[in-house]
Amino acid sequence: MAFSTIETRISGGRGELVLNRPEKLNALDHTTLTELAEAAGWFDRRPEVKVLVVSGSGRAFSAGADVSGFEAEAPPAEQARARADAGRLMAQAIESIRAVTVARIHGYCVGGAVVLAAACDLRVAGESAVFSIPEVDLGIPLAWGGIPRLVREIGPAMTRELVLTCRPFSAAEARELGFLNRVVADDRLEGAVEELVDGLLGKSRLTLTATKLAVHAASEEMIATAGAWNDADSLLSGLSDPESRRSAEAYLKRMKDRG
Ligand code: COA
Repeated sequence: MAFSTIETRISGGRGELVLNRPEKLNALDHTTLTELAEAAGWFDRRPEVKVLVVSGSGRAFSAGADVSGFEAEAPPAEQARARADAGRLMAQAIESIRAVTVARIHGYCVGGAVVLAAACDLRVAGESAVFSIPEVDLGIPLAWGGIPRLVREIGPAMTRELVLTCRPFSAAEARELGFLNRVVADDRLEGAVEELVDGLLGKSRLTLTATKLAVHAASEEMIATAGAWNDADSLLSGLSDPESRRSAEAYLKRMKDRG
């Protein structure tokens, strides 16, 4: 299927979904979010796909939500709500794919990209991958259903710490926290993911899907993502709160000064 910011491929039982805006470190703009949700549905209509690898082209998995329009005038209210909700719908769509999803993470994995990875079933990273969740510094709450997904994977205390402090964390720490299934040498990342995928492809679709759905149902019962329906509203509140906007301006200035 043809998309402008992602690539999709199928080979036998293996699907591949590649974020493909390497010049912007695969930042997730509105087009990418909607394309990811569409691609999730497209893969789900192809029962031959047992395992789907989600990755980023170029030097990063993804630098998270696209911040390039962040300082611009807010769009009209009805458009703004729909746009603010696109990330949640993306994460929901990725999480709902019946194939087993494997995030292959290298380079940066920031903010919304952490949510995308959290929506995948398994996560493997190269040892030099760097994670961070800078939303609070950007003057917005972590949205897109990110909080319940992180609480599920790493517990409330570390979710609080990483989201409130915005500090970067390494692949080794992410593995220790239980966010990553495996961390491997950078030059082993592709091979390690392929071994994992090959192992899964040898198993029956029915049991893979049943197991995935059972874990998902148990996770939803423990910590539901349904409450994230209003993440978009909290996001929009952040965009109109003066102190939050000052924080965002300072963050974006630091980002520009660094470049
Ligand atoms: N949104 C939009 N563009 C982004 C982006 C984002 N989140 N992250 C990176 N880019 C763009 C940069 O503007 C730059 O574009 P340019 O070459 O046209 O100027 C390009 O991608 C490369 O990024 P650069 O900052 O030069 O790479 P770096 O290696 O020096 O730094 C990061 C990498 C990830 C530390 C840095 O890009 C960054 O902090 N990005 C923002 C992360 C963020 O806040 N995401 C939002 C989370 S919700």
